[in-house]
Amino acid sequence: MEILLLRISIQHSHKMTFKIGIIGCSRVAKNKFIPAINSLEFASIDIVGSRTDSKAKQFSKEIGCKTFGSYEDVISSDIDCVYISLPDGLHEKWTIKAAEAGLHVLCEKSSTTSYESAKNMVNTSKSSKTRIIECFSFRFHPQHKKVLDLIQEHNLGNIHNFIGNFGYPRPNDNNIRLQKKLGGGILNDACCYPICASRIIFNEEPVGVMSNLLIDATLGIDISSSVFLIYDKKNAYAESGFDRNFKSNYEIWCSKGNIKLNRAFAVPKNFETEIHLIKNDSKKIIMIEPVDQTALMIKTFFEEISNIKKCDFNFEDDLLKQAKILEAVRLSNKKKKFVYLEDIEK
Ligand SMILES: NC(=O)c1ccc[n+]([C@@H]2O[C@H](COP(=O)([O-])OP(=O)(O)OC[C@H]3O[C@@H](n4cnc5c(N)ncnc54)[C@H](OP(=O)(O)O)[C@@H]3O)[C@@H](O)[C@H]2O)c1
Repeated sequence: MEILLLRISIQHSHKMTFKIGIIGCSRVAKNKFIPAINSLEFASIDIVGSRTDSKAKQFSKEIGCKTFGSYEDVISSDIDCVYISLPDGLHEKWTIKAAEAGLHVLCEKSSTTSYESAKNMVNTSKSSKTRIIECFSFRFHPQHKKVLDLIQEHNLGNIHNFIGNFGYPRPNDNNIRLQKKLGGGILNDACCYPICASRIIFNEEPVGVMSNLLIDATLGIDISSSVFLIYDKKNAYAESGFDRNFKSNYEIWCSKGNIKLNRAFAVPKNFETEIHLIKNDSKKIIMIEPVDQTALMIKTFFEEISNIKKCDFNFEDDLLKQAKILEAVRLSNKKKKFVYLEDIEK
């Protein structure tokens, strides 16, 4: 077995400073987004907003930000953009308010809970000439590009199939993920990741989907999500669930080999990931150095909005494409039949 090491570093070359407001004193803001901002010299947290004044005060003290207030206070303050990490069902309302105030938006995934709502968000962004990104930070980890490069370099042939799994133990009953009225459910929370990853790996959109969501009778939310996506000449399968042993991986099956990523979606910034490549009888493990995928996402967003460097995908188009697939997944489950993406617009 051969073990290779890929080294990656984040370069900073910015003179401008982006002033960011935080909407919602969430766990992901505290554990991922704010540490990432603190590692970037061209961005600062200028105000923190919470539903509760005491929480905003405590949170801003903990992160060393002097100004705090309500969500409205954040939106009316002198900043460039907001980071919204509210329950998925509240993303639309606060994205629209922020965009109407002329602010760019970094909105946590899933951007929202319906395709209609995603269109409202993007239309508002466009009419107010602001930008919005759905914070799928995983896609900025260089390991996915490396997977694609390895398929070429090792001549693995055509890609036929993608299988992605993302699941974990059931959260506590009061967690936002289990609240129907807040847009909870495993599709919005986790299955959206392997679905998005299959789009990135194939570099195309699916033709249609067939899905099976297991709805918890008491909670009224999906706690298990199985999605079969038909692409032109290839297929993907995305599987997620609460109440699972932790899994966050994907495997790609090619004509002349297989390639597997052991940690694909939730990747802590100090975590070394592995790509496993199998061709004939040889097995290679390619180690990827730890990288902060959240910091890379933020850097990409700021480079795009400040015209320093264009991202290789359009944020708003991508948000809409992803939301359209999730809509098709919900519809397929409801009707228990295959749903063509082109029928979603009708
Ligand atoms: N990209 C990633 O890696 C990643 C990782 C985890 C989560 N996420 C996403 O980030 C978002 C937040 O997830 P989280 O795990 O950080 O959640 P969380 O800790 O529960 O935070 C959600 C925040 O939303 C605010 N909120 C507003 N209305 C609420 C209500 N009715 N009930 C509860 N909270 C309410 C609260 O802030 P205030 O009390 O301050 O108002 C709360 O702190 C979700 O969209 C999730 O999918 C992304």
